[in-house]
Amino acid sequence: MDKFSEKLLDWYKINKRQLPWRNSNNPYYVWISEIILQQTKVSTGLKYFNTFVSKYPTIFDLSKSTEEEVLLIWQGLGYYSRAINILKTAKVVTNKYDGIFPNVYNDLIKLPGIGDYTASAILSICFNKPYPVIDGNVYRVLSRYFDVNQPINKHASKKIFHDLAKSTLDLKNPGDYNEALMEFGALNCKPLKPLCHTCVLNEKCLSFKKNIVSLRPVKVQKKQKKVRFFNYLVPFDLENNTIIIKREDNDIWKGLYEFPLIETSKTLNSDDLIYMYSLPSWAKQDGIFISKIYEKTHYLTHQELRTVFWLFKNVNHKFNFSINSLRNYPLPKIIVDFLDNLVL
Ligand code: ADE
Repeated sequence: MDKFSEKLLDWYKINKRQLPWRNSNNPYYVWISEIILQQTKVSTGLKYFNTFVSKYPTIFDLSKSTEEEVLLIWQGLGYYSRAINILKTAKVVTNKYDGIFPNVYNDLIKLPGIGDYTASAILSICFNKPYPVIDGNVYRVLSRYFDVNQPINKHASKKIFHDLAKSTLDLKNPGDYNEALMEFGALNCKPLKPLCHTCVLNEKCLSFKKNIVSLRPVKVQKKQKKVRFFNYLVPFDLENNTIIIKREDNDIWKGLYEFPLIETSKTLNSDDLIYMYSLPSWAKQDGIFISKIYEKTHYLTHQELRTVFWLFKNVNHKFNFSINSLRNYPLPKIIVDFLDNLVL
């Protein structure tokens, strides 16, 4: 077991990427970076991290912000509840803990958006405590090295991987060990085309020996994505103003802004749309010009959103948003894509 962590740490010293949150043990930086990196690659997350901490250099600055401002910075990253929870946690840490991050597992996991993964990352990286961190990279490295054939996306496997990560953890450097394992998964033991032939761990890697690296990790088949049909109504009044509305639904994009939405159970043509009972009254006036102007399917982890944007021109109703003001609001990526393609 020792050899595994020693070799891994030696590899990490030489190969680790220089990343801004690695130059300090500042829990604020580690927390923000780990929340971003949970669902995002380092290369994408880095830009967001830098923007975030330059706008909010400390947790006190962040705690004074608003949901809308934080969502605007988060725009494009997805999983927007992360941003909302970050603001909530910043307020709790400032008010309840005088801005000092707790260093006890049971206190950390009570904070909004902080679960086992983030608590373990903060405790090991900032406070040198022996908590293993298990993300997708870690599942992949461990399942290959130890040839674990249990599916990684089944709840029952959690304990197997937790125990493995815990038993190989370097107790003197738990933070470096955890980061090394994640970094090794990201750079060397990659999902496709892993660098097995030059790998420092290949001598004892069981799935390399058995030539089954490409079969690890095992995953159970996921459910089919749910297909949804979104119709955005994009009206322009006589002064070319339009409307966006804050999304309050809890399903996706809570707190983001969008055009008036009609969700249907299938694709619509313009006749279907015109005769829809749920159209807003401004959309039912005579003389309105309606056309389909943009169409795109947007993929989320568990959903496929087949989205059509319908233009309503010359609407005799007063709206409050100029087209140029829309980008001051946090918007889902599909709306940003639409605006990028809009030619009026
Ligand atoms: N992925 C998530 N957190 C990471 C970290 N601290 N280092 C490398 N990759 C990561």
